[in-house]
Amino acid sequence: MEVIIRPDAEAAARLVAHLIARALRRKPDLVLGLATGRTMERVYDLLVEFHRRDGLDFSRCTSFNLDEYVGLPPEHPGSYHHYMRRHLFDRVNIDPSRTHLPDGMAADPDAEGPRYEALIRAAGGIDLQLLGLGRSGHIGFNEPLSALRSRTRVKCLTETTIRENRTQFPNPDEMPRRAITMGVGTILECRRLLMLVTGAAKAEVLARAVEGPITAMISASAIQLHPACTVIVDEAAAANLQEKDYYRWIFATEPEWREFQHI
Ligand code: GLP
Repeated sequence: MEVIIRPDAEAAARLVAHLIARALRRKPDLVLGLATGRTMERVYDLLVEFHRRDGLDFSRCTSFNLDEYVGLPPEHPGSYHHYMRRHLFDRVNIDPSRTHLPDGMAADPDAEGPRYEALIRAAGGIDLQLLGLGRSGHIGFNEPLSALRSRTRVKCLTETTIRENRTQFPNPDEMPRRAITMGVGTILECRRLLMLVTGAAKAEVLARAVEGPITAMISASAIQLHPACTVIVDEAAAANLQEKDYYRWIFATEPEWREFQHI
């Protein structure tokens, strides 16, 4: 794992957007894993800007989102289907038939996980998975005690997550209590992970995820097991990290980061 610290949320989002754009240019048929949440909104705005200004081409890209709420139709303004259309899909040239999210309205929610996993396999697996970090330590919606080998399935949300995310609903009382999420095991199978975490409110949980012991209590700590994981954070989120100087030194001196020094 490597941790990159940028001065502020804008610089962190910009670095993530540049890494995604580079991956897409290198492999136009990239299978891209997408995430939702407030943190990602700026990343998607920047990708739209790269598309409009520099012609960044999504036409051959396939996408899989991490999760969706159970019981919300795609047109519901609180659904992640709606979020993705609004922030990215409707604004770039991605083929809608190549975009995938779990179906929150599946007649049999327990069958939806295996169906979704089969789609990921048929696409050849996920090349690059974008991740945020929830206040409860989750990646996707893998709440505490999610098995480290778990697969896509229905999870009951914590009260912390419900409190955090209900503000994203026009009517907060419509926030569902359950979601379908890729499992920790599913996420660990992606070829590369890219996590973005910003803001002081995430500082404590970020330190536990990145530098603490690997535990099902903080599903994000499982990223320590991944051989190709980059965590990009701002100074505020990095506040509790022990090895900040080492992480800064890596970004400042390692050749692979040279092209990103002044973006
Ligand atoms: C939701 C998503 C997570 C995301 C988290 C963080 O819970 N399921 O994938 O990481 O939100 O959201 P925010 O960026 O709004 O803090």
